[in-house]
Parts: sequence; C-alpha cells; structure tokens
Amino acid sequence: MKISITVNGEVRNPDVSSTTRLLDLLRDDLKLTGTKEGCGKGECGACTVIMNGELVTSCLVLAYQADGAEIITVEGLGFEDKIDPIQEAYIETGAVQCGFCTPGFIISTKKLLEENPHPTDEEIRRGLSGNICRCTGYQKIIDAVKLASKKLEMIKRGENVEAK
Ligand code: FES
Ligand code: FES
Repeated sequence: MKISITVNGEVRNPDVSSTTRLLDLLRDDLKLTGTKEGCGKGECGACTVIMNGELVTSCLVLAYQADGAEIITVEGLGFEDKIDPIQEAYIETGAVQCGFCTPGFIISTKKLLEENPHPTDEEIRRGLSGNICRCTGYQKIIDAVKLASKKLEMIKRGENVEAK
C-alpha cells in the first residue's frame, strides 16, 4: 500500500507492506540509516524517532500506522553546513563511544530539551530512561544534555556558539 509520510520536512510516498516496520521503512526504503536497530523489541531506544511530536520506538510502529505522520530522525537535525548543538554537545563531552545508541539518545534529548530547556540531573535521567547505552556510561550523557541546554539557551539569546 502507498502511504504519505513527512520525514524531516520532506513528503515521501513509499509503498509498504502490512508488516513493514517504520524502522525498516526509514532505514531500508528511505536510506535514513542514522536510526539504529538494537533489540527490535522496544527496550533499547536505539530506534527512537519523533512521530507527530512524540518519541516512538520505530521498531514497534508499523509503517502504515505512520501514514500522514510527521517524523523527525537524527538526519533531520542540524543544518547542511553545521551539526546540531545537541550533536556538538555529545561530541564535546565525550558522550559517544561506539555511537550505536547515540542517534536515539540525541532524538530523546531534543524532545526533552524542547519540553524542559533546563532539566535537573534527575529529570535528564527520567527523560532518557527509554534509551540504553552499553559503553559510554551515563554521566557523560547527562553532561552532554546539560551542555546542549546551555548551547540552545545561548542561541536563543542570539549569542555565537562555538565548539570548546
Ligand atoms: S530497536 Fe527499537 S527499542 Fe531497541
Ligand atoms: S556509545 Fe556504544 S552503546 Fe552507547
């Protein structure tokens, strides 16, 4: 069946089967391979995207259920010539090792900071509780979210944000 879906601002009309997962549609059909498959069971958060403003684990959503939806994946962040401040913050704090979990964490961070621009450590832990990292350790990820919060605040004030 043909569906209509807006991904990172672009309308796409892929043909999907009744069993195609949103994750497969993004990775295989639309070649947006930033979104990762870890567990395939809704437990690790590696496949997290924003669908109609809410975080979803794309391994648990069927593509046809996303008909008419707006999706944001990690490829939708940042600008052509500059990565997103959240991505910068993850790099600058060393919150990335193998990087497999990172797109999911970054998408969850985006949503968290939109809802709560200055979260406490506890709020960050809660906001990212759907994401699992096997190698970085969570303190650096919390540091990354706090740095991203500062960067976004500076951008809002019109200040120049340069990498450390
Ligand atoms: S791959 Fe979807 S939650 Fe793990
Ligand atoms: S950086 Fe490797 S799983 Fe998180």
